Amino acid sequence: MNEGTSSDAAAGDARFQTIIEPFRIKSVEPIRFTTRAHREEALKDAGYNLFGLHSQDVLIDLLTDSGTGAMSAEQWAGIMRGDESYAGSPSFFRFEAAVKELTNFRHVIPTHQGRAAERILFSEACKPGDVVPNNTHFDTTRANVEHEQATALDLVIQEGREPATLHPFKGNMDVEALDRAIQEAGAARVPLVMVTVTNNSGGGQPVSMENLRAVRAVCDRHGVPLFLDACRFAENAWFIKQREPGYEHHTPKDIAREMFALADGATFSAKKDGLSNIGGFLAMNNDELAARCRANLILTEGFPTYGGLAGYDLEAIAVGLREVLNEDYLRYRVRSVEYLWDKVTGAGIPCVSPAGGHAVYLDAKALLAHIPPNEFPAQSLCIELYLSGGVRGVEIGSVMFGRTLGDGTEEPAAMELVRLAIPRRVYTQSHIDYVAEVVAAAGARAPSMRGYRIVEQGPWLRHFTARFEPL
Ligand SMILES: Cc1ncc(COP(=O)(O)O)c(C=O)c1O
Repeated sequence: MNEGTSSDAAAGDARFQTIIEPFRIKSVEPIRFTTRAHREEALKDAGYNLFGLHSQDVLIDLLTDSGTGAMSAEQWAGIMRGDESYAGSPSFFRFEAAVKELTNFRHVIPTHQGRAAERILFSEACKPGDVVPNNTHFDTTRANVEHEQATALDLVIQEGREPATLHPFKGNMDVEALDRAIQEAGAARVPLVMVTVTNNSGGGQPVSMENLRAVRAVCDRHGVPLFLDACRFAENAWFIKQREPGYEHHTPKDIAREMFALADGATFSAKKDGLSNIGGFLAMNNDELAARCRANLILTEGFPTYGGLAGYDLEAIAVGLREVLNEDYLRYRVRSVEYLWDKVTGAGIPCVSPAGGHAVYLDAKALLAHIPPNEFPAQSLCIELYLSGGVRGVEIGSVMFGRTLGDGTEEPAAMELVRLAIPRRVYTQSHIDYVAEVVAAAGARAPSMRGYRIVEQGPWLRHFTARFEPL
């Protein structure tokens, strides 16, 4: 793939409408068909939590787009080049060069995945009583902020909280609310502002360059640093190219570089737009904070030239960071998600609109209005998709973002969504056609679906391990 350029053939040829996968398949993995009776048994054993399933009991796995992508021949070649020296491996320097070429940050700290970067950043930057604003915190980001006894504030624009409302940049931060929040908390209690691109928990929706600039201006006014949660920076850059006036002729790479140039640092999970199965980084310009973060890294992750990764992982990420900005890839990627969204909404299933960059989000609150939030409608829909068609999605609703209060009642989340995340370069059009059929059939059965109750849950990130019972 050419980095950051469009091929001059079919992709730009208006005579042909079909956007094809810009790759061919060299290696395949079988997927396993199971019966409904088998799936019922498997789900019961898993306490009705789809995270508890054996993945071999799943036919089409849309649980996450994280770490589930297919690597390219170039990435596998990089794996063979991986140098496993403990300190100063050339693989690290290739990784560092790829990250710097993209972000231009002075310090690049490799981590085993995104949440390790978050833990290190927040444990060094936050103190109890602090406030961290974000458009919408991802679950691990929120948990890492709260673990420091700080408050994670979600300040996405109002349109971003309304699944059916159309807006080209529904991931945008509410800039006035941000300004107010910093004034109310006092800048000294806001260690950093974070913007998540794209906004995963809010429907994979992009953030515009104009909004990033406005957030930057607020941060400058208050002297607060701005960090990107940059997991899906390339998909965000593609949306800017497609939707933001003035960017139509910019390359995704130039757009991404401009996004990073507006920030003081970033956390990154290479399992998304790093096109890799593991890895991440924490990058920043602040020398003093970076020194503390490196010391923290050594304590639990590893030496600063590998950060818990193998040399071959660093190679795969270095290649992935360049491949992900290829225009043919991004056109196919975003269109293939939109293709599922077209089919599902065409079948009358309410969804977060428009389609996100990496996933389609079904609106279970609208589809299952008879199931109240404290009976987890999105969990019920996830279960139905699995039982009827072997499709695994993930609940992004009151299981993930709600909580049980001291009196046993449930505090609900703002939305009840089922995310169908599309792994990168893995499934073909017929797999997606099948998923659309399964979703449409579940929609037809919606009135007969029932809620669930939680019978067991952990203190953090309860959705990963909670067990449920049908009501
Ligand atoms: C927006 C966002 N931030 C952070 C993370 C955490 O990354 P990781 O799973 O690599 O720890 C994710 C993972 O899905 C994410 O989507």
